[in-house]
Amino acid sequence: MAKVLAVVNQKGGVGKTTTSVNLAASLVATKRRILLVDLDPQGNATMGSGVNKNELQNSVVDVLLGEVSASQARVKSTPAGYDLLPSNSELTAAEVQLLQRQNGCLNLKQALAEVGAQYDFMVIDCPPSLSMLTLNALVAANSVLITMQCEYYALEGLSSLLETIQQLQGHLNPALEVEGLVRTMYDPRNRLAMEVSSQLHEHFGDKVYRTVIPRNVRLAEAPSYGLPILLYDKNCAGAKAYLTLTGEFLRRHDRQTQDENRQTPQQEAANKANTVTAGAAFDAAQNNLEQSHD
Ligand SMILES: Nc1ncnc2c1ncn2[C@@H]1O[C@H](COP(=O)(O)OP(=O)(O)OP(=O)(O)O)[C@@H](O)[C@H]1O
Ligand SMILES: [Mg+2]
Repeated sequence: MAKVLAVVNQKGGVGKTTTSVNLAASLVATKRRILLVDLDPQGNATMGSGVNKNELQNSVVDVLLGEVSASQARVKSTPAGYDLLPSNSELTAAEVQLLQRQNGCLNLKQALAEVGAQYDFMVIDCPPSLSMLTLNALVAANSVLITMQCEYYALEGLSSLLETIQQLQGHLNPALEVEGLVRTMYDPRNRLAMEVSSQLHEHFGDKVYRTVIPRNVRLAEAPSYGLPILLYDKNCAGAKAYLTLTGEFLRRHDRQTQDENRQTPQQEAANKANTVTAGAAFDAAQNNLEQSHD
């Protein structure tokens, strides 16, 4: 079965879509079979994959409402080489309907189960909110990748994301894990970015990905051509960074798989407890930053 990765941060504009599209495309370059799920009514991952969100026959909306299956709604992103469950603004109305349904947060999980055996990884690009859509992603996912910009308010709100993850671990998705934190649009010359980074390392240790994604104008241009960065400009700093991130992701995945095979029930419980501590750590890190800037 595919590993399902939700790319999440309720803060807007922190590189979720850029990371989802380029991680998916880089995983294809390593011969992995990938389904990218666009779970944002903005449809940015759809457009960035070269699929016109205004001309969809079926979309993730129909899948969430149980009107068509995932295999009927998926399309091929021809340039990128992955399959895509596309999205557009109709998803906003679907979210309201999901809210009215009993167990409406289970729909994506059930729909993805149909195609799970056909992929190595499914990557879900989430909207900038802790909404019913994000909840569907977190219920369907095995792990959560948090993208963040190293700015002053970077950590604010993340403790509520971790609380949500913790609640899900207790009930709807006991196996859910935090995959890691990825720093995006990173500028090493910026003093604040370095400060936020060191807070992250102090509180989250090796959950912080070593690879940082630099601010790179080519990454911002590529979506307007409907291309992942590897096909738009494979030699730019952004393309190299996403390839390195993909390598790190795969190494961590292999290590987790080995560890899971050896894990005792006590270790599993300790992993869950780590999420609780991480929630407190986000608050502590944001407080430290605020104090150092008072
Ligand atoms: N490393 C980068 N360098 C330069 N620009 C970037 C980089 N990453 C993302 N961008 C640009 O920043 C903007 C926000 O990025 P992106 O859409 O990936 O964030 P997001 O978290 O998905 O946003 P939203 O919350 O609205 O869905 C986009 O215009 C994108 O092209
Ligand atoms: Mg986005």
